[in-house]
Amino acid sequence: MTFPAAGGTRVADHSPEAAVRANTARTSASASSKRPKIDTCATVAALEKVECLLWVGRCPSWRVASGQERRQCICAVASRFDLSRLPLDPFIIRHDFLHSPCCNPTSGTAHAIHRFADSAHLSDPFAFHAFRTHAPRAALVGRMKIPKRLAPLLDEGLIDEVIGQLMSGKEATVYVVRSGDSMRCAKVYKDAKQRSFRQAASYRDGRKVKNSRQARAMEKGTRYGRQMQEELWQNAEVDALFRLADGGVRVPQPYICTDGVLLMELVVDATGDVAPRLNDVHLTEARALELHALLLNQVVRMLCAGVIHGDLSEYNILLAADGPVIIDLPQAIDAAANNEAASMLKRDVDNLAAYFGRFAPQILGADYGTEIWALFEAGELKVDVKLTGRIELDTRPVDLDSVLQELEETRLDEDARVRRQQELSAN
Ligand SMILES: Nc1ncnc2c1ncn2[C@@H]1O[C@H](COP(=O)(O)OP(=O)(O)O)[C@@H](O)[C@H]1O
Ligand SMILES: [Mg+2]
Repeated sequence: MTFPAAGGTRVADHSPEAAVRANTARTSASASSKRPKIDTCATVAALEKVECLLWVGRCPSWRVASGQERRQCICAVASRFDLSRLPLDPFIIRHDFLHSPCCNPTSGTAHAIHRFADSAHLSDPFAFHAFRTHAPRAALVGRMKIPKRLAPLLDEGLIDEVIGQLMSGKEATVYVVRSGDSMRCAKVYKDAKQRSFRQAASYRDGRKVKNSRQARAMEKGTRYGRQMQEELWQNAEVDALFRLADGGVRVPQPYICTDGVLLMELVVDATGDVAPRLNDVHLTEARALELHALLLNQVVRMLCAGVIHGDLSEYNILLAADGPVIIDLPQAIDAAANNEAASMLKRDVDNLAAYFGRFAPQILGADYGTEIWALFEAGELKVDVKLTGRIELDTRPVDLDSVLQELEETRLDEDARVRRQQELSAN
């Protein structure tokens, strides 16, 4: 597809590289200023093909251009070309820098981009309403200053824009961000000093480190050890998310965990707004029974994947358009390696019963936690297990004689061991 060049004249070399050269030559002439200025006319002249819009974003001078310069350039491009003839491939005009990271969606840049989109009938990726429906209202008010911890992700192009802060808890601050045309959730972990109970040793039990040097450093609490501990903590959540998604558990789709930030799917409800927590909704008895059964099955699936949440409650379950989604897993524990696995599983299951029991009191009489753990220990837990909530009590008569004999044998063994030790130390 060919478009008229700027001013109706054709430039000799239309390649992006030529425009870069032209720009560089012009800007080096004004070497007194550190930042090369983008030359709007030269750039637009080189944009013979709309595909070059992609290139604009990659042009070195674009990267350092001010918002004003970018705006001028985009508006110039918009007015020069017949944008209604854009190919219906959003990727063609979608690139990391069209929406500059700190661009306010109501600014001239965004308007220019959305004018492109409208005239080219590119609805979804660029439609302005996407900002309204996919971001929480509060997040849209005012311009968001880029949080320091998210800056590296913007620099690396992992996210394009920070829409707003969703929540700041004791463990993490959660933001709504935009990556390309999708809204995502960025969870920024707080430093160890600021975190609360979940650093407790019981959660760390059974977590593996790469080598014994790291294990020793962590035990001693050296700086390196503390850094290892941090990494282990931050990676635990993304590891659990991948493992659970594989095991058929509905968790947010993880993308990456880097620089202490977990980038994952933003869980939304049927209207496209951020999904509410279970704690924020009211349920009928029938819905409570349905969700309770569904979540018990999720707990079973987690355990089949070897994971126990460790902090499961109505605060860490979101009610999405497609049902409940389990979140917040940095403390997730390894069911086979952690000594407190049984009690943690029981606590998670009891928390579910206490919450859903408010709407359906019959749930309160059952003991699903003990039942699930017993099946797991016996190696009989399956993802489609039918739970009853009742535990079969072992009513067989106890063989008291054999128990007493076992105790006596253990006592004799212990006496012999102590005697041997005393003899050794006497010699
Ligand atoms: N993937 C997500 N999608 C939508 N909202 C989320 C997501 N992850 C977290 N949140 C919101 O952020 C809050 C805090 O996140 P959470 O992972 O529970 O961290 P914390 O350790 O601070 O409790 C949640 O209660 C929820 O409202
Ligand atoms: Mg939480």
